[in-house]
This record gives sequence, structure tokens and C-alpha cells, in this order.
Amino acid sequence: MQKITAPRGTADTLPPHSARWADVETLMREVASRFGYGEIRTPTFESTALFERGVGETTDIVEKEMYTFEDKGGRSLTLRPEITASAMRAVIEHSLTAAGPQRLFYIGPIFRYERPQAGRLRQAHQFGVECLGYSAPEADAEVISVVATLLRACGIAAKLSLNSIGDDACRPAYREALIAYLRGRSAELSEDSQRRLERNPLRVLDSKAPEDRATVEAAPRITEYLCAPCATHFARVGELLAAVGIEYTLDPRIARGLDYYTRTVFEFSSDALGAQSALCGGGRYDNLISQLGGPPTPSVGFALGIERLLMIIDAVQEQAPASQRRGIAVIALGEAARLRAFELASAIRTVTAHDGLPVVMDYSESKLDTQLKRADRAGARMAVIIGDDEVAAGRFVLRDLEVREQVASSDQMPVAGGAQWVADRYFAALAERAA
Ligand code: HAM
Repeated sequence: MQKITAPRGTADTLPPHSARWADVETLMREVASRFGYGEIRTPTFESTALFERGVGETTDIVEKEMYTFEDKGGRSLTLRPEITASAMRAVIEHSLTAAGPQRLFYIGPIFRYERPQAGRLRQAHQFGVECLGYSAPEADAEVISVVATLLRACGIAAKLSLNSIGDDACRPAYREALIAYLRGRSAELSEDSQRRLERNPLRVLDSKAPEDRATVEAAPRITEYLCAPCATHFARVGELLAAVGIEYTLDPRIARGLDYYTRTVFEFSSDALGAQSALCGGGRYDNLISQLGGPPTPSVGFALGIERLLMIIDAVQEQAPASQRRGIAVIALGEAARLRAFELASAIRTVTAHDGLPVVMDYSESKLDTQLKRADRAGARMAVIIGDDEVAAGRFVLRDLEVREQVASSDQMPVAGGAQWVADRYFAALAERAA
């Protein structure tokens, strides 16, 4: 029989790695909530027209990366390739902005039919925020601060590149100038860029093809074409970021691969990611909600790739390996010990409830060595060992799996007292490690 495996470009998340996903998600929720963002959850599939209209017909995403299918009722549906358009569809449908500005965040999967490679999946996951209803540059600086705060909390750094792509008043003139320039050099451009030149010339700017580099480098810069209101807005965003200590680089080549942006666009990138160096992308999209049939609502947001964030965290931790050992394994040897061990595990969980540490008992009848090895592999910090002798003496033996030392409690210790004794030693060992 042919083996059934996960579809190409998808990944299973398994323990213990899944706990790290849960940890970063908790952190994302905390940071979003500190900035006043509330969670929005939308369906993973939507009408195809939403993305055609929202993301843009000439973008790579809509041209070649969507998972589009017809359902049994003949409707054209698409697995969401990003979440901004979906969130805005919901915002319009529920008239959310009628009550004033809105701050929303989301965590969830996106689907893009791309060529899979390290850091690039066909089902990836994003954390994103959308700040709706403010045209003020403070909103741009705020969403960038959300990313910066999250990265700081994760203990990692990423490079912030900032640009403005103008608005309906100034971008058409720039677009013309860019097309005229690129047409003059079209023979030197990559095939992809030649194709984009007429339809979506700004996309040529963030081409990764080496043969395009020199042409793009010498291309006219959008920042020289910005109208006064766009230039003032952009300068203010920079000023606000500097005021809160967020470093950035101006990069006129950041154009972003989605059509809805106006004014500020930005990306966070990291060398730790290799070829797919973009960790997070975002910007202002003042026309999207009205293009989708809602009231004109200036908005700004970002999305960050969760797989990529975890890759960077992994790379940092490899450089400074901290002990990840956590929790207590309870090992019973023999029938009589099992009851006492089961009771002890329950009692330790009760006394350590607010620390949430895992307390796990092995229910096999394996030998002590085998059980210790298993606890070690599972990453437990300590093991409590209870055999016939311990039951007879009313004592517990505690082994530190990191420093490989063993101690015994006093005799005639009741289970509740034993649980407290184990917990005290466990936290003392952690404190010693931290010191
Ligand atoms: P995006 O730049 O297309 O923007 O995606 C944001 C981030 O999602 C990327 O920087 C990357 O980390 C991650 N990502 C995207 N595609 C993949 C993939 N195939 N595999 C792994 N990670 C991926 C957006 O999606 C916009 N909706 C952002 C936004 C929100 N703009 C305003 N609000």
C-alpha cells in the first residue's frame, strides 16, 4: 500500500516543539492585549473574489499561489493566502468601525502554493494586527511597536526596513517615471520583472533576481516623488519610532507583494532565516476597506510568520544553550509503590499548580534504568523514585537529572509532606541554576 504522508509544504507540530508554539502564541496574545488589540477569528476559506479584489489581480499571490476550488454548490472558494482581506471582510460585514476605531489581532494558518523550502511552507501561520480608523502616523508607529515589543520579549533582534509608497495623489507620477525608466532597460531585466514592468512595476523594485539588482539600484526613488502630505506623514513615523527607541533603515526598494498598501510599508528581516529572510511585513492600507465595499477607513497593520519567528529563536538558543529541563517524573518500582507514587504525583501537581510544571508518572513496569532514561529524554529536571524499601520506610528518593545527584527524604514522611519536600527542592535547584 502506498504510504500516506503530510502534503508537500505542510508540517506537523509535535511535542515537545508544540509547547514552544504555545509559548510564543501566549506571548503574542499578551503583547497584543497590552496594546489594546482584541482577537478576531475568521474562516480559513473565503469567496475567491475577496482576494482578487483585496490582494490584487496582478500580485504573485493571486496570479499563481492561491488554493482555489469549487464547492459542490459551484461557488469559487479560496483558502486564505493572508488574513488582512478576510479580517476586513468581517469588519465590513459586522460594521465594526461604526463604533469608532478598532484594534484587532489574529493568529492562524495561511495557504500559498509556493515552492517549499526552509522557512517557506504551503500552510504557514501568521500573527498579525490591524489598527483601523486612524490616519495619524502614530498608528503606523504603534503597530511597528507591537512587533518590536514581541521581538524583545522573545529575546531576538531583527532589522526593520521602512519605506513610503505614496498615495493616489503622488504614486501615479512615480509609476510613470518608473515604467519609463524600466522600459529603457527592459532587455537587462529578468523574465519575471519584464512581465511585471507594465502590470505592476513597483514589484520590480523588490525583485530578488541577481540580474535585476543594478537596474533596481539606479531606479528612480519613490521618496523623491512623495506629495507633501505623504512626505510629512512618513517623516513623522520615523520621528515617532526614534522617540520610542526603535531603530530602522530607510529602504526605497520595499514595495511589498500585495496591492492594497498606501504610504508606510515596512519589513522586519533576519539573517538567521537564510534566503527567506522576511520575518514580518506590513504597512498602511487606507483604501482597502472602501475597495471591498465598506466605509473609507484609514488602516495599518502587519503579519509575522510564526514558523520563521521560531526559526530565529532556535538559532539564538543554539548559540546560548540554556537548560530546558522542566518538570518532575515519578517512578514507581513494584506494585506496592504504584499507589503511593500515584498519590504523590497528584499531590505535587496540587502544590505546584500555580507554576504549571509537568508532573508525569511512568505506568510501565520497566526497570529503573529504563524509566530514568525515558524521563531524561522527555526533558524532566527531576525524578522521584519509590520502590519497596521506600514504601516500607515511608521515604522518597529524589534524583536531579541535570546535576545527577540523589537525595532521600526523612523516614515516615506522609505523601502531602513528601510533595512539599519535592517541590521545595525542585524550586531551590532552579534558583541555583539561575544564580
Ligand atoms: P506578507 O508579507 O505576505 O504580508 O506575509 C507576512 C509574513 O508571513 C512574511 O513576512 C512571512 O514571515 C510569513 N509568510 C508568508 N508566506 C509564507 C510562507 N509561504 N511560508 C512561511 N511564512 C510565510 C501579509 O500577509 C499581509 N497580510 C501583512 C499585513 C497585515 N499588511 C497589513 N496588515
